[in-house]
Amino acid sequence: MEYRTLGNSGLQVSRLALGSYHVYDRMTIDQIAELLTTACAVGINWFDVGHYASAAHPEEKVSVTDIRFAWAREQAGIKREDYIHTQKLWYGGPRPSFKAQFAESLPRAQVDYADLAIYNADTAYHFGTPVDMKDIVTQMAGLIECGWLRHWGINQAFPADVRTAIEFAEKEGLPKPVMMQLPYNAFTRDMVEDPALLEITQEYNVVYQASNVLAVGVLVGRPIEAATRPTGYPSMDRSAAALAGQFAELAQSVDATPAQLAIAFALSHPQVVTALFGTSKLSQLQDNLGALDLLARLGADGVRDLLKDIPQDPNQVRVDRIEGPA
Ligand SMILES: NC(=O)c1ccc[n+]([C@@H]2O[C@H](COP(=O)([O-])OP(=O)(O)OC[C@H]3O[C@@H](n4cnc5c(N)ncnc54)[C@H](OP(=O)(O)O)[C@@H]3O)[C@@H](O)[C@H]2O)c1
Repeated sequence: MEYRTLGNSGLQVSRLALGSYHVYDRMTIDQIAELLTTACAVGINWFDVGHYASAAHPEEKVSVTDIRFAWAREQAGIKREDYIHTQKLWYGGPRPSFKAQFAESLPRAQVDYADLAIYNADTAYHFGTPVDMKDIVTQMAGLIECGWLRHWGINQAFPADVRTAIEFAEKEGLPKPVMMQLPYNAFTRDMVEDPALLEITQEYNVVYQASNVLAVGVLVGRPIEAATRPTGYPSMDRSAAALAGQFAELAQSVDATPAQLAIAFALSHPQVVTALFGTSKLSQLQDNLGALDLLARLGADGVRDLLKDIPQDPNQVRVDRIEGPA
């Protein structure tokens, strides 16, 4: 496994990170434990374990993937200090304070603290709640001060909001964000490659974790019409489904699987330290590990060159066009 330093946190993170949402609810605890054991054995040290209190959609069933992660981790005998535990925090709408969210989510995941918490703007945008970055910085600092959190990051945000957060934290001597979690795949490049966001994040060494790297599986062959669980952004789903055949051919042309090519692409951008993906089967994890060999074999430029003519999703989320209040 290869590792990168996570911005100014000093954390050494594996280039591959494992998600939980929408996968651990479709697996047995034995299967999750086997997946986690294998992940640790190959050096993956970053597990994304959000408590999705249905985020911006309180009417939906609350996911129990964080609870199932805790059961499986115990079964697998993975010590808390041996991995990086990431939680999500939602702001606005009916969501309580960050402290109240952690008071609920840490016990669910059976941990005393999180290494990282990622602020997610979906709820605020959905409910039309003004995003007060100074309040977000202050609340994150409160979690860090009381020992529940080590570092924090931002999911999607306007570049101006990221700058406000960083400058306010600097002025007040509070912890700054160390990373951003952004959707990134060969046909959804705008957010990660946004020049205004890159200017700020490079200035302050805020690095990226790529998510949606497989377009929730649709890019690598999952049929959306058979969806028994939520898919991704509607536009991303459509574009991924239209591209899947071409993508598979390109992967075959370099003796790789589609998932390996998709993950190698996400890792080919210099600001991306790690690619986050979900795997509902051990065989998928084993397949995805090959992305690192592919990247080493073709080089970042080789991977990007292979995918340079892939048409871009015309309606992809961009940092100047993040979904606002409906
Ligand atoms: N979506 C986001 O914005 C977001 C944000 C933050 C965190 N997360 C976290 O990231 C994790 C990943 O979510 P995502 O939305 O970004 O989905 P994703 O990783 O793009 O896609 C995951 C799906 O891809 C399929 N897959 C994985 N490896 C494969 C392989 N080798 N061959 C074929 N299919 C493969 C699986 O589908 P099947 O299960 O149908 O086989 C899997 O469920 C979540 O679990 C969550 O914890 C997501």
